[in-house]
Amino acid sequence: MLLIRDLAQAVSPAGRAAPLRGAALADVDVIEDAYVLCSGETIEAVGRMRDLPALDGDVVEVDGRGLSAVPGLVDCHTHAAFGGDRVEEFALRAAGASYEELHARGGGILSTVRATRAAGEDGLRAAVERHRGWMLRHGTTTFEAKSGYGLDRDTELASLRAIRAAGGVPTWLGAHAVPPEFDDADAYLDFALAEVLPEAATIAEAADVFLERGAFDAAQARRYLEACRDAGLALRLHGDQFTEQGAVPLAIELDARSVDHLEATGEDGIRALAASDVTAVVLPASALFLGRPMPPARALVDAGAAVALATDFNPGSAFCESLPLCCSLAATQMKLAPAEALVACTVNAAHVLGRADRIGRLAPGYRADVVLLDATDWRYLAYHLGGDVVTRVVTGGEVR
Ligand code: NIG
Ligand code: FE
Repeated sequence: MLLIRDLAQAVSPAGRAAPLRGAALADVDVIEDAYVLCSGETIEAVGRMRDLPALDGDVVEVDGRGLSAVPGLVDCHTHAAFGGDRVEEFALRAAGASYEELHARGGGILSTVRATRAAGEDGLRAAVERHRGWMLRHGTTTFEAKSGYGLDRDTELASLRAIRAAGGVPTWLGAHAVPPEFDDADAYLDFALAEVLPEAATIAEAADVFLERGAFDAAQARRYLEACRDAGLALRLHGDQFTEQGAVPLAIELDARSVDHLEATGEDGIRALAASDVTAVVLPASALFLGRPMPPARALVDAGAAVALATDFNPGSAFCESLPLCCSLAATQMKLAPAEALVACTVNAAHVLGRADRIGRLAPGYRADVVLLDATDWRYLAYHLGGDVVTRVVTGGEVR
């Protein structure tokens, strides 16, 4: 047993439902002077210190004085499987080059494809493991990661295996860009669906596509996603990052788990998402890193949509593994309440990953993933901009 005692606060998204949408997104239970009791890998009880039952047997105690506890954070959108970096391109962008220009010139995603192919399976495993360590230090206890920087059979499959080996939830982003050895997107998709999908579907849980000008169009995205759905994968889309190309209606029609980015989504897309079961995943670190407009998260929540918050951690558009920083951006740039940001990167992110019955809450029966914040008010999670707010992380009942 693990007892985290004398916490200033313990906070959890309310109830048991998922996803939380509209006004319910702000519904969190705050217990003052709290304890969290874990039995093995599972949370046994959360309550007030004065109601702590007598415990017998072996109990490891953690002193929570001056700290607050929130559920282990869930990052439902990362690109953690990559080789190399894009620091050179970062400097070029700082000098005025645009992300889309660099991509069109064969830099951008394709430069990471070259480095990822060169890394080999061992190099990729080491990279994902390293990135996982970074995320954990910022309180991420469950992460999704996409392939998509291999774009050949061996490197895509090696990426998915590396993600699994590091404990991540793998998504096959087989349609991220068209690699240089193919003349066009359709020829590449012929190859990917025939040669990569059958084995990718045995490792990955979901498939994702970059539906954008210069990447894949709506017809190509549909073809890719339908084949992936038939192979048993859940569906995700990168949509409306720069321009609206039909990602939202396609996601709704195909019953996708999520559509992610949405920086360019207009009124119709907001209304359609709010009336659908597709979760809107917002990635404010990516908008910030590229100097782009923020996604309309406030309008999505107000319209009644299910909104999740993720980092988009990747070397090109969001070299940021910190969900607490994303919570700060959610509050300062997108006008989400700290409670809405917390729900968006716990329960709702867990829902996107098909795991909302076991992670994302501090409640009996959920996995014992707990983040201890160095603050007596849990809202420091969003308030402490770029701060060292995560002081300890518990995963599966083990103190890290
Ligand atoms: O989510 N937009 C497409 N893919 C990634 C970025 C990939 C990259 O720049 O390497 C994203 O932003
Ligand atoms: Fe992404």
